[in-house]
Amino acid sequence: MMARPPLVAGNWKMNKTVAGALRLVEEMLPGLQAVGGVEKLLCPPAPALMPLSAILDGKNIGLGAQNLYWEKEGAYTGELSAAMVKEFCQYVILGHSERRAIFNESDADIQRKVQAALAAGLRPVLCVGETLEQNEAGRAAEIVSSQLRAALEGAQVDSAEALVIAYEPVWAIGTGKAATPEATNTLLRNVVRPTLAGLFGEHVATSVRVLYGGSVNAANGASFFAETEIDGALVGGASLKAQEFVGIVQAAQQK
Ligand code: 13P
Repeated sequence: MMARPPLVAGNWKMNKTVAGALRLVEEMLPGLQAVGGVEKLLCPPAPALMPLSAILDGKNIGLGAQNLYWEKEGAYTGELSAAMVKEFCQYVILGHSERRAIFNESDADIQRKVQAALAAGLRPVLCVGETLEQNEAGRAAEIVSSQLRAALEGAQVDSAEALVIAYEPVWAIGTGKAATPEATNTLLRNVVRPTLAGLFGEHVATSVRVLYGGSVNAANGASFFAETEIDGALVGGASLKAQEFVGIVQAAQQK
């Protein structure tokens, strides 16, 4: 099996001004830098990307945007292109359930964004996950598999190695009700990796990192990282608290 270095990413969502972002990074930096063997990634709002890229330079902490638009440039008021993101970032979160639900992003939109990110040399953190209703109807596997196949249609095997997948069940996001590590591991083993294998072959399926997201905190992080298929976490609320986020990164060191 391929070695998959653990990855802990903080999705700050629409929180923190530049001044607030600088304060938060200053607070978490010593703790983050003290942990080796875990890849760390911060995804602040767009205005904070430029100042944080200067501060994080040479510190082995990655930066990611929370979205991009697939066109190269032009009359798209309010949007960011992949090239603009690439100036400051290595990663970009795509297909987050909040983008799907609040901003009506379709699987086809997300597929175009994934293509644009890969073409620009950005690593997508592609989010997938079922709603509570879909979960209760026993449709989690079907939804996750179809979201993956739709978003990754047309991606080439060699660029697929740049992907990170985040399984984020919608009912676990911001609710304090995390999925169980065991059920998550089963879904990753039986659905996420086989879907990747069907699209890109075994090598990609075993080398791509798959994260869990949804109410991860410093207290429950280790229980997720103990599972064989879970390679890290995409953290929302707890990534806005220095101690919590550092605690999750420390927990990932045990992997
Ligand atoms: P919470 O950690 O706040 O549940 O959010 C998860 C998430 O949506 C990360 O992208």
